[in-house]
Amino acid sequence: MEIVEAIRTRRSVRKYKGDPIPEQIIRELLELAVWAPSGMNTQTWAFVVLEDREYMKNLSGRAKTFLLERLKMMPQLEKYRGMLSDPDMDIFYGAPVLVMIYSSRASGTYLNDCSMAALNLMLAAWDRGIGSCWIGFARGAGNTPEVKKELGVPEEYELVAPVILGYPAEPAAPVKREPPHILNWRK
Ligand SMILES: Cc1cc2nc3c(=O)[nH]c(=O)nc-3n(C[C@H](O)[C@H](O)[C@H](O)COP(=O)(O)O)c2cc1C
Repeated sequence: MEIVEAIRTRRSVRKYKGDPIPEQIIRELLELAVWAPSGMNTQTWAFVVLEDREYMKNLSGRAKTFLLERLKMMPQLEKYRGMLSDPDMDIFYGAPVLVMIYSSRASGTYLNDCSMAALNLMLAAWDRGIGSCWIGFARGAGNTPEVKKELGVPEEYELVAPVILGYPAEPAAPVKREPPHILNWRK
């Protein structure tokens, strides 16, 4: 797939087939993710790959509880209260794979760097017909000391980008894009 086509046609996928992604493909996607730029080439990203659906279900439940307990501090999420309160709602949409991009905070650009790696991952996945979605809902739970301990993530690491991957069950709904908002173009 041409890079431009991948950029234009990638959509957040929220319905997945149950099929697993072959390990070799997941490894290749991680290898492509790390070709992203990073501040001073620090490459501080580090990955946790989850294919354990039971653990993902459990993490989804904990992520919802984490957010519900903090809704007062995050009024922008109030509209999701119903969804987060639904015990059957899986924030990972039944995807077979969750890639959690963590980083040490050693570099001043780790948030940017991990986001770059996440986009590389999502575009490379789409090139192979694999859908993806960044699941910001998982960030809080993924940063708790308990989850880090369970996943073998050092305490000083921070989860920046939780990204699900899987084969789409149906084409994702189209989404609108506004034209670029150009504040100034000085020549
Ligand atoms: C930082 C970030 C957090 C996101 N969190 C979620 C999420 O928790 N759940 C979800 O379904 N989509 C999430 N998304 C996906 C966005 O909703 C999606 O990218 C946006 O609606 C545009 O649609 P598109 O990706 O299909 O172009 C997130 C995207 C980003 C960049």
